[in-house]
Amino acid sequence: MHKKRTKVGEWRAVDEGVCPAHPHAIPAAVRMSEAQSTAGTPLIVAVVNQKGGVGKTTTAVNLAASVAVAEVSCLLVDMDPQGNASSGVGVSPRTTTRSIYDCLIGKAQLEDVVVHTAIPGLDILPATQDLVAAEIELIDETDRASRLAGILQSAFERGAPYRHVFIDCPPSLGLLTVNALVAAHRVLVPLQCEYYALEGLTYLMDTIDRVKRGPNPQLDVEGLVLTMFDPRNNLAHQVADEVKKHFRVFESVIPRNVRLSEAPSHGKPIVLYDAKSKGCEAYLALAAEYLAGHEPKSDKNDKKKSAAGKGARS
Ligand SMILES: Nc1ncnc2c1ncn2[C@@H]1O[C@H](COP(=O)(O)OP(=O)(O)OP(=O)(O)O)[C@@H](O)[C@H]1O
Ligand SMILES: [Mg+2]
Repeated sequence: MHKKRTKVGEWRAVDEGVCPAHPHAIPAAVRMSEAQSTAGTPLIVAVVNQKGGVGKTTTAVNLAASVAVAEVSCLLVDMDPQGNASSGVGVSPRTTTRSIYDCLIGKAQLEDVVVHTAIPGLDILPATQDLVAAEIELIDETDRASRLAGILQSAFERGAPYRHVFIDCPPSLGLLTVNALVAAHRVLVPLQCEYYALEGLTYLMDTIDRVKRGPNPQLDVEGLVLTMFDPRNNLAHQVADEVKKHFRVFESVIPRNVRLSEAPSHGKPIVLYDAKSKGCEAYLALAAEYLAGHEPKSDKNDKKKSAAGKGARS
């Protein structure tokens, strides 16, 4: 079956950028031309917060799953050696033979590694602990910060049929996260409304600015998502109000919900584990809010094309 070929822009060298945490992490890199960000081309979203345990993986998995359920094809990229996004959609890092590591070191292409999930239209580029080694192995490579961008770009050129790509990042601003920021059009920041939540945010925004001024000028903040929100907690409201003064925040708030924390141990996104839970409702609402900004309502033809692309892969 004929695959829709994605129109993509050219890559070109740009000035060197610097990450404050890793001053040598970003070499002279490449970026996508303006054509990549026009409507109809895949949108790449990095889910980033260097703070651990704030709901990055839960958000990446369940937002991607909810977008796929809306019949908009998605690729979830696991950029964390913990492999939580992979196991969260039922792909165990322990039994995975080829992973994103093989792509990053140039031993495999995206389609050699990608795995279909139980949700039609949702694929995963899985990670294993091998990914830890990538940071070290790539240290002398001049294109080390733009490896992921290159992998995605060439997959799109070969017709990879995804409309949205969500990258789950590790809790650091090291080379793996920098790769995600160089590859992405947008950054989505899950934020837990607690006392220290704002502390790292300035540093994160500073890093995003530096990547924007360097290797990826088109990078933009998609918005902050308030996670594990407890409406009975006054501090949560105070933090939320403060954040809204300074940043774009999604209206859909993710409540603390035990079903969301149970779902990964069953290898399922919440929409397959408990579609009636408050957590599922919240992620479906977040997906609708996200898609409203990116998918025109009269987009049925594109959805059909994307479904045809799915058929072509199987
Ligand atoms: N809304 C929620 N309600 C209840 N539990 C949640 C919610 N969101 C996440 N959790 C749980 O909190 C823990 C941390 O979430 P998650 O793994 O998504 O965070 P993370 O930012 O990806 O962590 P890391 O920085 O280690 O990658 C997990 O056990 C997860 O199941
Ligand atoms: Mg995680």
